[in-house]
Amino acid sequence: MSNLRIAVQKSGRLNEDSMRILKDIGIAIDNGKDQLKASARNFPVEVFYLRNGDIPQYLKDGVVDVAIIGENVLIEKGREIQFVERLGFSKCRVSIAVPKDSSATSLKDLDGMRIATSYPETVKHYLEMQNITAQLHRINGSVEIAPNIGLADGICDIVSSGSTLFKNGLKEIEVLLQSEAVLAVSPKIDETRKAILEKIQFRIQSVLKGRQSKYVLLNAPNDKIDAILDLLPGMRSPTVLPLAEEGWSSVHSVIPKNQFWEIIDELKAKGAEGILVCPIEKMVV
Ligand code: PRP
Repeated sequence: MSNLRIAVQKSGRLNEDSMRILKDIGIAIDNGKDQLKASARNFPVEVFYLRNGDIPQYLKDGVVDVAIIGENVLIEKGREIQFVERLGFSKCRVSIAVPKDSSATSLKDLDGMRIATSYPETVKHYLEMQNITAQLHRINGSVEIAPNIGLADGICDIVSSGSTLFKNGLKEIEVLLQSEAVLAVSPKIDETRKAILEKIQFRIQSVLKGRQSKYVLLNAPNDKIDAILDLLPGMRSPTVLPLAEEGWSSVHSVIPKNQFWEIIDELKAKGAEGILVCPIEKMVV
């Protein structure tokens, strides 16, 4: 039977989270150090450890079927490649920055200037849309140093925490795009492998929904239960169970992780006690 060939970044900012999501969806890989290819023990999957920038070409050629890759790299080197899931990690943006003391404050101030970047296609496309002309200098790494050594007037690179820009005395003046890790698919994937991909997608969605939610258990006097239930969405509806102590109930529910603290504050204010919050490993709805 055919294996689904998945590319992941060999090393760098996506590697650890990519391996973690594969583990979380139950794909067990014996990952020896310096191994470039590994088979899963319990699923028809082979993992290829590749250089980030090479992955779009491998997808185009059908050498791999899917890849966990940054949207920024896909836009730069494989605009035509589709992705089927956003994976919620390695969030960053691709931005243009200039030295802090530069008189440039917006993109139009860079008209006719020099921009150093590892994302020439992305910048070119963006500048064309804005009707701006600049000289692009392609650099593969340490782009932020270019203005300091007189190579460029501005740079375009990925920004995550912003600390590299700060350390190099640069200020961000334009965000070209927002990016995160995605599950990209080769246009050449065959039907057998597509069926394996569907199983993987289902598992990934379950893990991502779990990561975005928390399971909450609490106790409350029965006369407060209605007000508390109003705050809790639950999956279908919250579970309410009587406690051994008369007049009290326990409520169980699922809440969105990003509203967690606000909901907990409101639950307390409405009379909830003994609130327990647990992570959810997987959520199949
Ligand atoms: C990227 C990018 C920036 C830095 C931005 O480099 O090139 O230098 O991260 O991150 P920050 O805003 O959190 O400081 P990375 O470390 O991924 O290595 P690379 O230069 O090899 O791409």
